[in-house]
Amino acid sequence: MAFSYITEQLDDRKTLARYRKRVCVQADVESQSTKINIAGKNYLNFSSNDYLGLNNHIQINKAMQEGLDKFGLSSCSSSLVTGFNYAHQALEDKICQWLNKPKCLLFSSGFAANTALFQTLGHDALQSNCQFYLDKLSHASMLDGAFSSKAKVKRFAHNDTTQLAKLLSASGDSNKLIASEGIFSMDGDQAEVNELKQLAKEHDAWLFLDDAHSIGVIGDQGQGSSAILNSNKTPAANIVMGTFGKAIATSGAFLACDEQLHDYLINFARHYIYSTAISPALAWATIKSIELIQQEQWRRDKIFELSDLLKSLLDPNIEVTPSASSIHAIIVGSEQKALKVSEQLKEQGIWLTAIRPPTVPVGSSRLRVTVCAQHNHNDIKHLAKCLNEALI
Ligand SMILES: Cc1ncc(COP(=O)(O)O)c(C=O)c1O
Repeated sequence: MAFSYITEQLDDRKTLARYRKRVCVQADVESQSTKINIAGKNYLNFSSNDYLGLNNHIQINKAMQEGLDKFGLSSCSSSLVTGFNYAHQALEDKICQWLNKPKCLLFSSGFAANTALFQTLGHDALQSNCQFYLDKLSHASMLDGAFSSKAKVKRFAHNDTTQLAKLLSASGDSNKLIASEGIFSMDGDQAEVNELKQLAKEHDAWLFLDDAHSIGVIGDQGQGSSAILNSNKTPAANIVMGTFGKAIATSGAFLACDEQLHDYLINFARHYIYSTAISPALAWATIKSIELIQQEQWRRDKIFELSDLLKSLLDPNIEVTPSASSIHAIIVGSEQKALKVSEQLKEQGIWLTAIRPPTVPVGSSRLRVTVCAQHNHNDIKHLAKCLNEALI
């Protein structure tokens, strides 16, 4: 039978407790990002990436409406035809100022931006003198982009800058790119950005940081990893990717870089050239969201205050990965155990999705708790109590 592997592979996933299915969240205008309604039942949501609680913010919604009235919902073509308009330009300028980068390019998603970057830098067989060095825990979109390019790819153990230094020293390649996430999506810990930058300098390499989970959350204006590098007077990463769909609470992504790479991407990045530009209304709303992020430090302070509270309330025998962000991973081991605890929490009104392989390494299935600015002390106390009961 044609494509019989489809059934076989789905059955394998079921046997291994790795089968996934979607749940449909009910529309509810009143709801905050901390509450969701699924199949008629309300839950306290600890799986959202709306870290700053900006989804449904009245000013962002108003900017969206204004963007719709001024520019329309659709960009109606790709950026290189007639899809690039004033709203996109204004958003790019805003991001350049925010991160202190010369240029910025918008993409429809972080997945597209990452894939575009690696594929484009490594697209030419003549450039096979190009090597990418990726942290082992890099996001699927970085890995897919890197491995589908013509560049050589090496992976270093998570945050192991000693191993990275050895790999860089052993290489004769002239075009080296070090790549890491700023905050790691499934662990919540931070890359050694200053050391990575230093190594890049020593080995004449470029540094790329995926700030999907740092943007908005790290830095006194939410600038992400750039805030750490700039505060140490280190030149920023050569290339930064940030997504709009997490702390910024809209949708889409950007790559910030220098003028030459910007020009190169416009001319060679297939994801950019052959794809409809992001909605201009969404770009307009994203500018408002970034303004709020720059102004409202209390949202970041709240995340760290509530994260400390959670850690202080959890039983000391529960191992939580060291975190510098909203993300706190409780590694439970097997897929079955993660699913069991997640189900148990649901009965107590908590939504906490079990994260299993292949998203995370085998044996490290986990509960990935996201603490958001809109949670309150009682939410955290309830979560800690339920986790202590379920895990100890
Ligand atoms: C580290 C990281 N990079 C990139 C992406 C992709 O971003 P987007 O959701 O905008 O496609 C994600 C999202 O899951 C992510 O966690």
